[in-house]
Amino acid sequence: VDKNSQRLTIAIQKSGRLSKESIALLQACGFKFSLHEARLLAHSSNQSVDLLRVRDDDIPGLVMDGVVDLGLVGENVLEEVRLERQATQLACKVQRLRALDFGQCRLSIAVPKEEAYGGIQDLDGKRIATTYPYLLQNYLQQRGVSANNAILTGSVEVAPRAGLADAICDLVSTGATLEANGLVEKEVIFRSQAQLIQRPEPLSAAKQAIVDQLLPRIDGVQMARE
Ligand code: PRP
Ligand code: ZN
Ligand code: MG
Repeated sequence: VDKNSQRLTIAIQKSGRLSKESIALLQACGFKFSLHEARLLAHSSNQSVDLLRVRDDDIPGLVMDGVVDLGLVGENVLEEVRLERQATQLACKVQRLRALDFGQCRLSIAVPKEEAYGGIQDLDGKRIATTYPYLLQNYLQQRGVSANNAILTGSVEVAPRAGLADAICDLVSTGATLEANGLVEKEVIFRSQAQLIQRPEPLSAAKQAIVDQLLPRIDGVQMARE
C-alpha cells in the first residue's frame, strides 16, 4: 500500500463473517469493484478507491498505523487490538465513523454442558481457551477472578474436549458452534457489531471528499433497510 497515494484505501475482511456484507455495503453506496479471489487489492472502476482484503485481526492495526485510510471491522476485534496495543505501547487510536448494521455477535464464556456452573468465581484457577486474551483478562480482573488463559489462534471450541481447557471464551452468533461442541454459554463479556473506522491523522482533501460522500450514502442504505 502506497501511503502517499491519493486513492482512498479501505481494508475489509478477505473471508469470514463480515466479507460479503462489507462488499455489499460499499457496492450499495455506489462503488464498483471487480474482485479477483487471489488478489489482495481491488481498484474501484468509478471512484478513487482501493479495497485491501486482509484478515480481520489485521484491520485495526492497519488503520491505527495509518497504512490504510478506512476499515470495516467487528468491534470485538477492534477492542481486542486496542487493548493489546495499549499494553504494548503501540499507536491505538482510531476515529469511529459509523456503527454498521451487520456482524452482530457476542464474546462469551462457555463451559461443557455436563459441568455445574454457579458463577464466574467457579472459573478461578481454571484454564480458559480464547483468541481474545485481553478482553477476557479485563473481564476476569474486574471480577477478581484469576484464570489461566490458553491462547489459541482458532478451533477454540474443541479445547475442552481435547483436554486443553476447562472453559472457552469465543464469539457466538447463532450458537450453533457451541451446541455442536456440547458447550453452554454462561457469561456474555462483550457485544459487538461491525464498525467503520478511520485512521487518526487527517485525510487529504481529495480523500476527505470521498468520505464526505460515502457517509450519507451509508446512512441512506442503512435507513432503507431498518
Ligand atoms: C466465530 C467463532 C465461532 C463461530 C460462532 O468465528 O469463533 O467459530 O463464529 O458462530 P455461531 O454461533 O453462529 O456458530 P468467526 O468465523 O466469526 O471468526 P474468526 O474466523 O475470526 O474466528
Ligand atoms: Zn479473525
Ligand atoms: Mg472461528
